[in-house]
Amino acid sequence: MSSAETLWEQAKAGEKPNPDDARKIIDSLANIVTQDRTSLMALTALKKYDNYTFTHMVNVAALAMAQARALNLDGPLLREFGFAALMHDIGKVNTPLEVLNKPGKLTAEEFTIMKMHVVDGAHILRRTPEMPALAPVVAFEHHLRQDLTGYPENIGHRKLNLCTQIVSIADVFDALRSNRPYREGLATARIKSIMGEQGNPAFNQTLLRRFVNLMGLFPIGTIVRLSSEEIGVVTAEHPEDPFRPQVKIIFDAAGTRLEGEHLVNTWERDSRGDFPKAVVESVDPDSIELDPLTVL
Ligand SMILES: [Fe+2]
Ligand SMILES: [Fe+2]
Repeated sequence: MSSAETLWEQAKAGEKPNPDDARKIIDSLANIVTQDRTSLMALTALKKYDNYTFTHMVNVAALAMAQARALNLDGPLLREFGFAALMHDIGKVNTPLEVLNKPGKLTAEEFTIMKMHVVDGAHILRRTPEMPALAPVVAFEHHLRQDLTGYPENIGHRKLNLCTQIVSIADVFDALRSNRPYREGLATARIKSIMGEQGNPAFNQTLLRRFVNLMGLFPIGTIVRLSSEEIGVVTAEHPEDPFRPQVKIIFDAAGTRLEGEHLVNTWERDSRGDFPKAVVESVDPDSIELDPLTVL
């Protein structure tokens, strides 16, 4: 077992998780995210631990630290964010494995048990010496959602900590991406459009847009399907809205290859104020036998 995983084992045994083990992980992540050539996609290919929840916690720390770094956080504060992100799900050491790894939907009763990990985590982290004060806050808040419709319920008015807002984005992204017993991981572009749907009130929109930009949602050359069922290639990104690029239409809704230039600015509204053509998802070039380079 790696020293990193002893963090989990100690907490599970009711001991205090050793901050030195956490520090080693944070140090190596800080090294990665402070290099200029940070690629979030490279971070997501991080080492897999035997324990799914622990792998998830490390991924979330990486994704959160990359976001924090992109906001120009550095030094001790960047590390503090890293600690808090890494430990966000530590309360799950108390969640029975049948619930934690259950294939399929949780019953209402099981969901109640699952929800306890946010309060349990805050308790564990509060009694761990050297753990930054931010860590229990983020553990407590990370499922609240921006509009406070999550859990714990009925906690009154509250403004989520910036670190929580960053961690929530990383958390949902990693959960949708990972292969869980009950679901195949979703493709990255699909995840990002789910997260961005109708300005999803769960997230801080500014942070979400920055995250999507960081990940490169629909980079130039991406083949996409539009809401009009047309297929095209992204030819330009919109500087303010990564969800609405410029697309060159290649196939019409019937699948017929078009001649000539058909450019659509998906950020443009029609006379009713709607977006007549929106990008629905990215399409695997192999599935339609189209080399995007030949049409750019
Ligand atoms: Fe959680
Ligand atoms: Fe999580």
